[in-house]
Amino acid sequence: MVYSRLARRVRDCKMQRFSEYLDSLESRAGNPEWEHFINALTTNLTSFYREAHHFEILKKQLQDLSHKPRIEIWCSAASTGEEPYTLAVTAMEAFGTLHPPVRIIATDIDTKVLAHAKAGVYRLDQVDKVPRDILRRYFLKGNGENDGLIRVRPELQSIVTFKQLNLLGENWNLRPGFDVIFCRNVMIYFEKDVQFQILKRFAPLMSPGGLLYAGHSENFGMAKDYFLLKGKTVYEVLPEHAHRLASVSVDAFQRRLITRST
Ligand SMILES: C[S@@+](CC[C@H](N)C(=O)[O-])C[C@H]1O[C@@H](n2cnc3c(N)ncnc32)[C@H](O)[C@@H]1O
Repeated sequence: MVYSRLARRVRDCKMQRFSEYLDSLESRAGNPEWEHFINALTTNLTSFYREAHHFEILKKQLQDLSHKPRIEIWCSAASTGEEPYTLAVTAMEAFGTLHPPVRIIATDIDTKVLAHAKAGVYRLDQVDKVPRDILRRYFLKGNGENDGLIRVRPELQSIVTFKQLNLLGENWNLRPGFDVIFCRNVMIYFEKDVQFQILKRFAPLMSPGGLLYAGHSENFGMAKDYFLLKGKTVYEVLPEHAHRLASVSVDAFQRRLITRST
């Protein structure tokens, strides 16, 4: 797999041998070829409504959080955008409006898939699994030279921000307070101890009660001191590890309610 994916890069760089390619990569830390190297090696398989049961749970979670002025979601391996746009549709369905109080930050290491995701344009066969009424409400069908293509409505794009982020990197540069983290079908590429380190970093970024959604073949049981299994591949952050300021503001919110009602 690595051979076939990198062989193309070696050819595009007009080189003859892998060793020559790797030497040139390693000779300079800031070599722009690193980006192509990473993009060539990632596996980006995804689809709209993948593991559909998660979106039922999410809809209910969002409705339960409707007292919050703003709900924060992090989609941490967004690939070509099908997953974050399904999250956006779910938010709009949960609140019955194209302008729900929800913000989604969608990240991936691969800059090429992020550009695709940002554009929000797909082939018709890629929306096969999307229910007809959802397609009608949230997608715009192309015609003329865009025949066979479909794009997401601008309202979906307006609540999603795309940004490059390496889950293995040291500084994620994210503001804490996420109510939801989707981290699906990416941890499988990492060793168990690396997965654990990432999960330990997720916990303090989450609001108390926040839910972490994992992929179908992923099991975060090794982080049971941080996350409690709530349902099929859905985990709740344990309150003692969640973001502290968020819990202060929940207390403040409750105090305000008590003051108002007395
Ligand atoms: C198989 S796709 C899963 C996409 C989506 N989450 C889903 O379940 O349909 C895995 C994604 O993880 C991204 N990825 C791989 N390593 C990563 C890393 N170290 N940091 C962030 N994203 C990474 C890949 O670029 C790819 O888009």
